Amino acid sequence: MTDNTATLTIDGKSYDLEIFTGTENERSIDIQKLRAQTGCITMDPGFGNTGSCFSSITYVDGANGILRYRGYPIEELAEQASFVEAAYLILYGELPTPKQLALFRAMLAEHAQLHTSLEHHFSGFPKNAPPMAILSAMLNLVSCFHPEVLEVNSEGPEFDKTVALLLSKVRTIAAFSYRMAAGKPFMHPNPNLSYCSNFLHMMFSDPYREYIATPVVDKALNLFLVLHADHEQNCSTSTVRVVGSSRANLFSSVSAGVCALWGPLHGGANAAVIRMLEDIKLSGKPISHYLDMAKDKNHDYRLMGFGHRVYKNFDPRSIILKKRVYEVLDELQQQDPLLEVALELEEKTLKDDYFIERNLYPNVDFYSGILLRAIGIPLNMYTVLFAIGRMPGWIANWRELLEHNQRISRPRQIYTGEGSRPFVPLAKR
Ligand code: CMC
Repeated sequence: MTDNTATLTIDGKSYDLEIFTGTENERSIDIQKLRAQTGCITMDPGFGNTGSCFSSITYVDGANGILRYRGYPIEELAEQASFVEAAYLILYGELPTPKQLALFRAMLAEHAQLHTSLEHHFSGFPKNAPPMAILSAMLNLVSCFHPEVLEVNSEGPEFDKTVALLLSKVRTIAAFSYRMAAGKPFMHPNPNLSYCSNFLHMMFSDPYREYIATPVVDKALNLFLVLHADHEQNCSTSTVRVVGSSRANLFSSVSAGVCALWGPLHGGANAAVIRMLEDIKLSGKPISHYLDMAKDKNHDYRLMGFGHRVYKNFDPRSIILKKRVYEVLDELQQQDPLLEVALELEEKTLKDDYFIERNLYPNVDFYSGILLRAIGIPLNMYTVLFAIGRMPGWIANWRELLEHNQRISRPRQIYTGEGSRPFVPLAKR
């Protein structure tokens, strides 16, 4: 992997640092021994320019709007793969054969049910508990009912079972959290349904009326989940890796990932976009009012669904979603007034110097909420659906971390507080 070296000069002394080059010629300077050699650390708050691992799962080229899972372009996966196929690919590195896919689906069906005692825990949450809090808590709790998964490492039949258990139960927990908040009885999983249709059945069926997802709705949900299945070292995936690096079990690690995803700058943005569009629509104020607020440095208002740490040209997921939103609304014979607001906001933003100079474009969250609205998903479940989608990526990254026997995550800091000073007894303060 080594191409050449970089030379760093500090206080007149030069140090040769190795350069690592990735498959797509991305380059990194190895600073692992820098502190021992020079006494200096590197400073990069927010890790905007810091590589934290070598990974063979997902490739993102932000300048050119490229996203690939295990080498396969997102555009092709979005068009042709189901979520279960994409999840298998991300987890195991190759597209499944028909036999492997059937086996994987059977394992997901087998592990969809929650332990009865686990179900009782839902009644302990207040009615208005946020589903993301429930999801995180319940994922951690699942491991208490399956103590064998606490010991599991990164390979073999036990790992395969744990993967199926997690991928399947996350969907059941998500649906149950919604049912509980809505004051409705739980609908148990139906093993004859596909992954997405089964989730929608648990969300929307009633004891006397079974919800049957139409192919349009099933396909739209599959697309949403495929587009969210992994995105290399984003905030929640890095969280999963940081937690996992202490050799915490897979369930605790992904539970932490859910918490990181919850924030409005990350997965919480999909619901925040809809709230923003509703606000714009209801206020009757011109779009320019909102652009001015977003540009005003004395204001903490941001246009939700805009900007990305890595994509500085366009987010390919947003392009796919925008196209699909039209098709889904058309196929379902719906109109969404928020789509018009979103289109106008996008058009004006892309012509505005502030956003042009900063390379701020619609990200995956900008159109995803409109898609979820069209298929009837309630607003408080949007980020939960992001979490279901991201589960394969979190698990694959946790596994890779163990396979690479990565060291515990432990960044350094530069201390800027008080120097040493003597303790002042209470009576003298
Ligand atoms: N609206 C207005 N200004 C923005 C926005 C925005 N949405 N995003 C970034 N900026 C400005 C920011 O104020 C800064 O300006 P200046 O250089 O004058 O100080 C500049 O653009 C660079 O922003 P940054 O905060 O340094 O960029 P970042 O890489 O740290 O943050 C981000 C990326 C996605 C958190 C940010 O763009 C943002 O807050 N966007 C809105 C929330 C959102 O849509 N999040 C979803 C992200 S994509 C899916 C996911 O990963 O969850």
